[in-house]
Amino acid sequence: MTTIGIMEKKVNTKDLKVGMFINLGGSWLSHSFLRPAFKLHSNKQIAKIIKNGFRSVMVDLDRSDPAVVRELEGKQAAYEREYASVHNKPVEVPVDFNPMEQISDELREAIEDQKLPPRKKAEAVYTHSIRMMDSILQKPSAENILSGKKIIYTTVDHILADDDTADALSQITSHDYYTYTHSVNVGLFSVLLAKEVFKDGHDHNMQELGAGFFLHDLGKCDVPADLINKPDRLTPDEWQLMRDHPSKGNKLLADAKQLTRECGVIVMQHHEREDGSGYPLRLSHDEIHLYGRICSIADVYDALTSTRAYKKKLPPFDALAVMKNEMFHHFNRELFGSFVTLFA
Ligand SMILES: [Fe+2]
Ligand SMILES: [Fe+2]
Repeated sequence: MTTIGIMEKKVNTKDLKVGMFINLGGSWLSHSFLRPAFKLHSNKQIAKIIKNGFRSVMVDLDRSDPAVVRELEGKQAAYEREYASVHNKPVEVPVDFNPMEQISDELREAIEDQKLPPRKKAEAVYTHSIRMMDSILQKPSAENILSGKKIIYTTVDHILADDDTADALSQITSHDYYTYTHSVNVGLFSVLLAKEVFKDGHDHNMQELGAGFFLHDLGKCDVPADLINKPDRLTPDEWQLMRDHPSKGNKLLADAKQLTRECGVIVMQHHEREDGSGYPLRLSHDEIHLYGRICSIADVYDALTSTRAYKKKLPPFDALAVMKNEMFHHFNRELFGSFVTLFA
């Protein structure tokens, strides 16, 4: 979390200026920005803050540009009068505000923006996917799962249609290990691998496949972050909790009436291994569906390339080398070969 400095002032949003360092406060689900605290770089950001329903925000004077601070301090008396009139009024939030719908609208806007370069589109896809996944994992309700699936469909369609954004996406994944970042990374890498293997995807329901990949760890929604990052050996109870996450995810999807064949196979089989050493059913070779095999490769790759409390992240090529040299019997050879070509 970003710490706001000591020198801070409440500023009416209509008086915000580029160069101010602001803090929106609260949960990120209450607004459409990835971080609550940041420096304003464009008037578009200011318009978005106002559109999000904010009447005033905190401005950190220490971290704002000196020119805007001087201007702000000159107007202090006027601001004080303004605060006196608005301070006790509730913040006006649009009555139909729905974080998931807003994520969906903004994602479509970015994808359809002809002027946005592929790198920026990839960033938009990534950022909105992270917010979507965070919402679902915090509250895996039927509504959130359904809304999330629609956002995933949009993302999958775009990855299939736009090779440049697809290429850029493989470069920008976050390497912090949280279930929501991991879910998005695995979702994106699995879709990229499925695109490589299935080409146009006509014989497969690529949207549902994407949903299964992004939601593969849905059953970890209740597993505490410190257990996921626990450096010590897991106790038998903790290990059981981890082992149960495929069936728990399967049940959440079934309860939400969103358990398609694609989602079921991926959620239940992404920890199975070719040599039968995986879980929960110790399936091997052809007993494991192609969709589950794809997800298992992306899943292990992301675990290796992410920083955990007990280990540093590996660079991409070192991770691929570890998978090839030490874990090759866990994966399907041809699929692993196709996965490596994504980094060529
Ligand atoms: Fe998992
Ligand atoms: Fe996973």
